[in-house]
Amino acid sequence: MICLGIEATAHTFGIGICDDKGKVLANERSIYKPKAGWGIIPMDAGKHHEEAKHSVLSAALEKANLKIEDIGLIAYSRGPGLPPCLHKGAELAKELAEKHSVPLVPVNHCIAHIEIGRLTCGFENPVVVYVSGGNTQIISFAEGKYRVFGECMDIGVGNALDKFGREVGLDFPQAPKIEQLAKNGKWTELPYVVKGMDLSFSGIVTECIRKHQKGEPLEDICYSMQEVFFSMLTEVTERALAHLGKDQVLLTGGVAANMRLQEMLNKMCEERNARFKVVPREFAGDNGAMISWTGILANKPGQKIKPEDAGIDPRWRTDDVEISWLKN
Ligand code: ATP
Ligand code: FE2
Repeated sequence: MICLGIEATAHTFGIGICDDKGKVLANERSIYKPKAGWGIIPMDAGKHHEEAKHSVLSAALEKANLKIEDIGLIAYSRGPGLPPCLHKGAELAKELAEKHSVPLVPVNHCIAHIEIGRLTCGFENPVVVYVSGGNTQIISFAEGKYRVFGECMDIGVGNALDKFGREVGLDFPQAPKIEQLAKNGKWTELPYVVKGMDLSFSGIVTECIRKHQKGEPLEDICYSMQEVFFSMLTEVTERALAHLGKDQVLLTGGVAANMRLQEMLNKMCEERNARFKVVPREFAGDNGAMISWTGILANKPGQKIKPEDAGIDPRWRTDDVEISWLKN
């Protein structure tokens, strides 16, 4: 069985193709870039996806050396995400499923970040640190669902980094540029906000902006912001690991590309004799392969919908999804 997966929750329009052994045959994408000084404008991102969809589809089929008739299953990201973007993915999924009489599977984008991480890292039952633009969650599987043990109470860690970067005039995506600037910085005092198992980033961003306006060196603020954000994440992950008695930590999502975050989590895991792995960079940010692979997993126990039911779910939570492909 070969599955074509369509990702369109935010900035990325992606098409991935996987087989049922977990071999990735193609993973093509086109990324919308907001104009300087702006964040994502949902309608503009939707327009980008509309314009990009056919060329990304052709590129993926060509890469996999397949024809659309070879595809046995279509998966698409149903949510969470920005409605104008989600609609573009759902529309294409519906169109392809109808035209070629292929079964259709809706996929939760957050679960897809977890499953591509489990596949590529070979982990069975890890504590998952899912860090991206819109989401920040510490997750683990228990009794039929991926349960959220801790999460951000306001904005995701990627958006927090991007937002500060935007305020100081960096280009989108700002977080990787902050990572570079941080290398030459030193510590400046910042608040640290962990409440129970939950995290809050937006007040710290405000304080960073204030420090920048007062003329503190940008490198110092970038360094300190990363230190604080990633320490907060490491603290909560360590508590989840201890509480659950698990011994694997998987880092996934767009922010997983950050070397300083990897270093901190790795050190904590070493001290606790836990194994630590990071999703490969190609699968860290939004991509179609993760949707395709999760579609295969969900379809194995029989999950599928009719093309006319190919809707979207902009606020679909990780812990609302029944995980029929994993046993307790
Ligand atoms: P989600 O819907 O899962 O929240 P998303 O739309 O934010 O996903 P992803 O591609 O998963 O998209 O993550 C993008 C985020 O990752 C952006 O905020 C980006 O700045 C951040 N990012 C990318 N590279 C780095 C890096 N090196 N360090 C920190 N953050 C990074
Ligand atoms: Fe994502």
